[in-house]
Amino acid sequence: MLTEQEKQEISEELKHCERPEAAAIEALRVVQKKRGWVSDASLRDVAAQLSMTPAELDAVATFYSFIFRKPVGRHVIALCDSMVCWSLGHDDLYKLISTKLGIGYGETTGDNRFTLLPASCLGACDRAPAMMVDDELFGPVTPETIDEILSKYS
Ligand code: FES
Repeated sequence: MLTEQEKQEISEELKHCERPEAAAIEALRVVQKKRGWVSDASLRDVAAQLSMTPAELDAVATFYSFIFRKPVGRHVIALCDSMVCWSLGHDDLYKLISTKLGIGYGETTGDNRFTLLPASCLGACDRAPAMMVDDELFGPVTPETIDEILSKYS
């Protein structure tokens, strides 16, 4: 069940949109901000407030890779696997991170510290290979810088 504050924040988002669907991503972000992810129950409640069906809202949520429909770790690593990053070392970087953390894409470390996800172009092709940890962008990420980056997150 959504909290009163969540409902109020979603109402505020709705005020800025001509159609409720246009507020879908921001409404989901309101829920994710506090809870870390969007459960089926939360999705249903948000859909009701937006006058959408849960299926319609879920389609939006699953299309947008930064809305998490499953629990994630305390920090989410989004590693760009689009063309420029792919051609400038994505595969090696993925192997390195995967080996260091002991997880693959879609998985979370046993201590719940990191979830590793693939991401489409992060809009930082000039910094390829690029990745985000939570809201922070890094690039170019190299084998020499990866430890320092990861060590910032506990
Ligand atoms: Fe990776 Fe654009 S292709 S940031």
